[in-house]
Amino acid sequence: MGEKILPEINKVQRHGLSVLFVHWTMALSTMVLIFSGFGQMPMYRRYGLTALPGLGWSADYSVTLIIHYIAAMLFLLAVFYHIVYHLIRKDFDILPRRGDMKESLAIMKSIIFGGKEPPCDKYLAEQRLAYAFIAFLVFAISVTGVIKVMKNLPSFNFSGNLLIWVNDVHTLASMLLVFGILAHLAAFVFRVNRPLIAGMFTGKVDLDYCKHRHCKWYDRLLLKESCKDRE
Ligand code: HEM
Ligand code: HEM
Repeated sequence: MGEKILPEINKVQRHGLSVLFVHWTMALSTMVLIFSGFGQMPMYRRYGLTALPGLGWSADYSVTLIIHYIAAMLFLLAVFYHIVYHLIRKDFDILPRRGDMKESLAIMKSIIFGGKEPPCDKYLAEQRLAYAFIAFLVFAISVTGVIKVMKNLPSFNFSGNLLIWVNDVHTLASMLLVFGILAHLAAFVFRVNRPLIAGMFTGKVDLDYCKHRHCKWYDRLLLKESCKDRE
């Protein structure tokens, strides 16, 4: 479903089903991959997690490996779908732009100390930067993950050195992703960002929120509608 203003219900259609599907498939599979991935490092028994009711299996390598593989398939499906979908639609709204660092600082300053935010497009400058950071890690994790799967198959032979690199990048990128996700969730501690949460479930955000905070995007939507009216 395309983005558009829905004046009759005071909302703006921000995301279609595809975006919601990709976000929540990524979110769910990433949580499972983090849990099952770190479960393969012998830490859950050491830190007593296995003693918790119902979690005895969490240190069993053969179980966490299968869970990791199933979640990895979902994860890669979402990544692939996301890339193809946005390329076909030529929709690159979330990619970083020149000046995003400066604009992000201005937005943070106004959130923390009050004052006016710079006019924003569909995504805030920090969202575009956060996207680039997460996408880079997802790319590194996916490439190294696929090599790790191939290494487990009898028909592939990789050098020991390459495998050390692949393992280290997979683990390091996973740790950075955990920090990235914590920062992503911490953004919603600030009340001003919370209207976006409903949008990630229903696809719609409040019209007033959109008008005031994402005024560049709102103007584009208005222009699109007025051109459509004249067709
Ligand atoms: C958010 C995504 C992911 C996270 C956080 C994650 C995390 C981890 C961690 C912490 C480990 C254990 C340490 C290590 O061996 O490096 C691991 C192992 C592994 N991961 Fe991932 N991973 C993710 C995605 C993937 C994907 C997409 C694939 C496959 C395409 C994959 C395949 C593997 C394999 C094959 C292993 C090693 C299993 C073995 O011991 O042979 N991972 N992962
Ligand atoms: C309970 C968990 C989560 C919640 C409540 C949540 C919520 C949200 C919301 C409200 C947005 C803003 C969308 C918009 O601008 O309309 C968003 C965007 C995004 N989410 Fe999540 N998310 C969660 C987990 C995750 C996870 C685990 C990942 C990573 C794999 C992720 C990756 C992203 C990315 C890349 C964006 C776009 C950039 C950004 O806005 O920072 N999210 N999420």
